[in-house]
Amino acid sequence: MTAYSDRVAEYVHLLDSMGAVHPSDRQLVTEWATSVSGPIVDVGCGPGHWTDHLASLGHNIRGIDPTPEFVEHASRRYPGRKFDVGVAEKLQGPVGGILAWYSLIHHTPDEIAAPLEEFARVLRPGGSLLIGFFEGSELGPFDHAVTTAYRWPVPALTDRLGAFDVVETHTRTGVGCRPHGAIFATVKS
Ligand SMILES: C[S@@+](CC[C@H](N)C(=O)[O-])C[C@H]1O[C@@H](n2cnc3c(N)ncnc32)[C@H](O)[C@@H]1O
Repeated sequence: MTAYSDRVAEYVHLLDSMGAVHPSDRQLVTEWATSVSGPIVDVGCGPGHWTDHLASLGHNIRGIDPTPEFVEHASRRYPGRKFDVGVAEKLQGPVGGILAWYSLIHHTPDEIAAPLEEFARVLRPGGSLLIGFFEGSELGPFDHAVTTAYRWPVPALTDRLGAFDVVETHTRTGVGCRPHGAIFATVKS
């Protein structure tokens, strides 16, 4: 996504470490990963901090991102971790888990089916998906700092997960920050 290419330095400056991650997100993603059996893909890994965090806990994880500047940065910053240029719509499998942490936020409601179908295709039976997203009472676009993003009510996004069994949903709100959502789901066998 070229919109991110122009903003990589800025994004990295603000959000390039686990120190910038909300403690409850850290706990949620970390606990989710412990439930995964087999390799994990961090889809839309951005600066690579989640890939590094989960790799440091012993998970077999690869970060992929369509923005080459993020992949270059992540590979430099976290040597020894695995990063590649790639998109959510075309993955290599099979894998045990997919972390899509705020990487589907720019997909329109019409576009989001493609990555979700691809996730279901490459996950092993029973494989696990964790999506982080901006939550809202109505599905709709908003002006994200990089490019248009979408808010999803939790039920609207779970409705799109027909190939999955939803295990848990989470929302998080706070003063001065947008509501956040997360969905943990496993692919139907
Ligand atoms: C808001 S950033 C999130 C980055 C990282 N996951 C994090 O939590 O900081 C969105 C990321 O999604 C990536 N992205 C955009 N379109 C994508 C696609 N079709 N497939 C995979 N990643 C995509 C962008 O390049 C960017 O790195």
